[in-house]
Amino acid sequence: MNDTLYLATVDSTNRVAREHAGEGKPHGFAVLAARQTAGRGRLGKSWQSPPGKGLYATILLRPGLDVEEYAKITLTAGLAVSLVLEEMCQLAVELKWPNDIYISGRKCGGILVETSSLQGEADEHFALVGIGININSDRESFPPELRKSATSLLLESGKEYDILTVFAGIRARLLQLLLQLADEGFDDILRQWRERDMLQGKWTQWLTPAGAVVYGESLGVDGSGMLSVKDRSGRIHEVLSGDVTLAASVQEMK
Ligand code: BTN
Repeated sequence: MNDTLYLATVDSTNRVAREHAGEGKPHGFAVLAARQTAGRGRLGKSWQSPPGKGLYATILLRPGLDVEEYAKITLTAGLAVSLVLEEMCQLAVELKWPNDIYISGRKCGGILVETSSLQGEADEHFALVGIGININSDRESFPPELRKSATSLLLESGKEYDILTVFAGIRARLLQLLLQLADEGFDDILRQWRERDMLQGKWTQWLTPAGAVVYGESLGVDGSGMLSVKDRSGRIHEVLSGDVTLAASVQEMK
């Protein structure tokens, strides 16, 4: 049975999970909060975490993998969330590299993967998979600036869901996919991820970590978990970090 720490209010479940990882909690341990006061998103963004409306959880993984395998964990987590939401809600889920969960073109969830120092022995490395999903949020639960771009399971399916049940399903599926990754490799996980890739073949803009903007066509994710973007000159960029979004207009590209 995997251990879970349930908290009413926390700043960020990723922060608390890191403390527990440092104290030796095992693979599969999780921190789940009803509310976060300083939920963190990727690239320094915040994550709105109102009580009772969403899933805010961090799962500790000690996958025993080498450094170069860690990009695959992010994609595996996105696939685990998609599979569970699809089964539970009978909705089509899309993934935006590396880890955004979309339904009907709107963002329904996100995953923030943080790691330990990846120096030294692989056995000592860990990953913190922070998962935020808008579950029972109505339109007014979102701040005005997110009302057009965000959605929830309630808004998409018309039904409310039990947050603990969604969480238990996701953790079980993630741990099962990680066993598959270790035993059979990444091919089948990647195939299923690609089936849900919302950027594949689309014109995108990539904001690089250095602050430059590269426009190009997304060629999809490769076997190491990186995204390939072909710019207007035909040059192919291997994207490992930064923000990739659909380009506002094709005119911008040409
Ligand atoms: C993103 O889309 O930018 C990632 C959002 C991740 C949010 C979750 S909520 C639980 C966990 N704790 C955090 O502080 N962030 C993640």
